[in-house]
Amino acid sequence: MGNRVLLVYFSGTGGTKRIADTFEDSFIQKNYAVTKYSLEKAEYELFKEMNKNLLEEMNLILLLYPVYATEAPILVHEWINSLPISLNIPAVVISVSGGGEVWPNTSCRVNVIKAFEKKKYNVVYERMMVMPSNIFTPVNDHVAMHLLKCIPEKVNKIVNDILNGKKRRTRLHISTYFFSLMHNERKTKKFAKSLSVKDSCTACGWCVKNCPRENLKMEAGTPAFGDLCIGCFRCIYGCPHRSIYLKKGDKFVLKDGYDIDGVEKRMQNIPLEPIEKCCKGLLFIGVKKYLLEKD
Ligand SMILES: Cc1cc2nc3c(=O)[nH]c(=O)nc-3n(C[C@H](O)[C@H](O)[C@H](O)COP(=O)(O)O)c2cc1C
Repeated sequence: MGNRVLLVYFSGTGGTKRIADTFEDSFIQKNYAVTKYSLEKAEYELFKEMNKNLLEEMNLILLLYPVYATEAPILVHEWINSLPISLNIPAVVISVSGGGEVWPNTSCRVNVIKAFEKKKYNVVYERMMVMPSNIFTPVNDHVAMHLLKCIPEKVNKIVNDILNGKKRRTRLHISTYFFSLMHNERKTKKFAKSLSVKDSCTACGWCVKNCPRENLKMEAGTPAFGDLCIGCFRCIYGCPHRSIYLKKGDKFVLKDGYDIDGVEKRMQNIPLEPIEKCCKGLLFIGVKKYLLEKD
């Protein structure tokens, strides 16, 4: 294999970005040339222009995205749809979830891989990685730190696997297939429709500047939402005044916000509890399995 890697990712709240950055470092350390870009609106438009020429020079595509209710964010599909057909480039698909490789998360790569294969890309490796969840169930700081600390070792292993030609494809179970047929876009749109702004908004424009879809505009001193929201929660957690909320579904949003840098600061000098002790309960089965897995 030649030494050029195209690393494409989307990250709503920074978890997947951390992993993408670590992949970039790992490939560079092994003398690979990495072209990395995120599927944010502006970068994506620019890339669409040069997609074909750039791809012809690549020896590997590495795609990373967060899991949204059994699927990839819609912009991942938009990107794959924009690719030229049949360049025979090997592709690696890494999904990043809060809950790990458990049902129904197991469906989250099925349609992405189908879309790649429809375009005649050769998906050689797929895998779930786990980050502290940004939805519904917060993980305690010890679990979060275990998840952050294991990234370099896990990434290094995956990069070695790929470079050694190891193939890794998940066998499809009937339930996985069934869930992959259920479109989640409607659910995400529901989230998006109920986004609202509290009086505490100062019209600072953070949300307008940072929305990955450029889906917000300032109208008469209040952010107004368009139709392109993918439900990534960036505006909800990133708003400096916590002024953006969901009228329907606010129970899914973590009350204390989502801040992985903050966890690292808080936990700097605190010894970590063993995984078996801090990672308990049904909801954390997949997280525990991920932290303890050897392969
Ligand atoms: C709308 C939405 C739906 C999600 N659905 C799931 C899910 O079905 N299973 C899961 O394990 N995590 C789910 N998550 C959690 C994210 O996959 C996880 O926190 C991921 O690390 C976020 O990556 P990011 O920080 O790069 O955006 C969801 C998050 C959002 C915002």
